[in-house]
Amino acid sequence: KQIAIFASGAGSNARQLIRHFQHSPLARVSLIVCNKPGAGVLDIAAEYGIPTLLLDRQLFLNTDTYIKELKARHIDFVVLAGFLWKVPANLVQAFPQRIINIHPALLPKYGGKGMYGNFVHEAVIAAGETESGITIHYVNEFYDEGAPILQERCTITPDDTPATLAQKIHLLEHQWYPVIVERLLSQLPQ
Ligand code: GRF
Repeated sequence: KQIAIFASGAGSNARQLIRHFQHSPLARVSLIVCNKPGAGVLDIAAEYGIPTLLLDRQLFLNTDTYIKELKARHIDFVVLAGFLWKVPANLVQAFPQRIINIHPALLPKYGGKGMYGNFVHEAVIAAGETESGITIHYVNEFYDEGAPILQERCTITPDDTPATLAQKIHLLEHQWYPVIVERLLSQLPQ
């Protein structure tokens, strides 16, 4: 199976996924799709020799050129890992139940527009929450609203800052995302 990762940022989750599947008989990360020139994830792709596709916003929103490219490359599964654009309906329809996302909080709380990166953790701490976590979910046309697949929790201590909470969350993400992607891929028809 061929996995495409969509990412906009540093790419630490992308790195974990690439490494997890590097020698897997089941699947391979075979494309990194990015919307941000200079993003760290592009360096990671280069490091592992994985082809990249840089997305133009107008093409992404108004055409299916890049979807044709995904199909031509025989992509079976799309994994969003810190991808900051909302996914348009034509992409969802092209990969039904085959696009998942990871969100650094316990949805449905702290989801939606503006809830990304450390803004999420700031909001969670400001609200006085004593726990946070990760949500892995299917992607539909509505931001952060697709069916949940897995949630894992971590404790927030009084000395936590958005930065330390981000570290805890990243650990959970790196631990769980590859495992869940593998589980879902193994359930796909051949
Ligand atoms: C992750 O925390 C993910 O949950 C969020 O963006 C972050 C991406 O981090 N949507 P990285 O680029 O994988 O390091």
